[in-house]
Amino acid sequence: MSHLKKIVFLVIVLTVLVSCKAGSKEKSCAPNCQYSDLVVGLLQTGSEGGWRAANTASFKETAEQLGLTLKFYDSQNDLAKQVAGFQQFVEDPEVNVIVLQPLEVTGWEQVMKDAQEAGKTVVLSDRRIDGLEDYYVTFIGADFVEEGRKAGREMCALLDGSESKKVWELVGNVGASAAIDRGVGFRETAKECGIEVTKSQTANWSVVDGKQVTEAWLKETKDVQGIFGQNDEMAFGAIEALKEAGLTPAVDVKLISVDATAGAFQAMLDGTLNVTVECNPLLAPQVYEAALAAMNGETLPKWIPSEESIFFMDDPNLQSIADGRKY
Ligand code: AHR
Repeated sequence: MSHLKKIVFLVIVLTVLVSCKAGSKEKSCAPNCQYSDLVVGLLQTGSEGGWRAANTASFKETAEQLGLTLKFYDSQNDLAKQVAGFQQFVEDPEVNVIVLQPLEVTGWEQVMKDAQEAGKTVVLSDRRIDGLEDYYVTFIGADFVEEGRKAGREMCALLDGSESKKVWELVGNVGASAAIDRGVGFRETAKECGIEVTKSQTANWSVVDGKQVTEAWLKETKDVQGIFGQNDEMAFGAIEALKEAGLTPAVDVKLISVDATAGAFQAMLDGTLNVTVECNPLLAPQVYEAALAAMNGETLPKWIPSEESIFFMDDPNLQSIADGRKY
């Protein structure tokens, strides 16, 4: 091959490579993107309980209503699977938005960088991660620290006048922002009235684990005045364990949970759960709206917190509140 031919050949190869790389970047519909232009890859944590079921339904129903395409990935509560799913969406040329509901606060640096390089719009939903603010457009989810603070304040109110204030804490999956932050918030307000957190262990958001952990603790001691379940399911497990140990839940041992699912309302109506702090799972409308705005070039606040309430066993309107709720 002559020199000139070699140069022409190289130029052709380079042009093809550069255009392939450019082709891997998302084609932009901005500034007029519509919901129908959105192909959203959702990385769900798993299906660990009522909150998660309502959250998944919110994403699926809202996608249909808005006419966007949703690709759903179930991480089965396994961080390695969730990271692999993220990578899959990065490489999927159809996906232009990745919604990450992270199992844990760390482990995201490489895939976040890959997503940015591939031109994907990343929205964090439900749980925060540590750092990396430049790689996602916004985080839409609850203030978990505040949820913990509310639970601590209500536990103080329930234990007002009690000589001893020993409380056990059933924790979500280790490394989840929901678990870390609720624990921080709870301690912050609980210490103000002298509550001592005498036991604290993960029960993985699950009824079965919540029961097992509480059973094991009850074999060691029955000196406990309150249990804080970081979600409803773990509190349901504790309720079962207390009953089997001959204790009356919500009377002998006060119980507070987080989520406010239908099951928690039933437990309060049955008189076995004192309080539930709401954590709103119906995040999809806000998430999709934010994704569309970002695709159209809008800059969003780094955190859009959801509004949440508290519900009490002795509320005379409890049944009608429960009847009016979606999950
Ligand atoms: O991140 C939200 C938490 O995850 C919910 O409180 C818990 O039930 C869920 O699985």
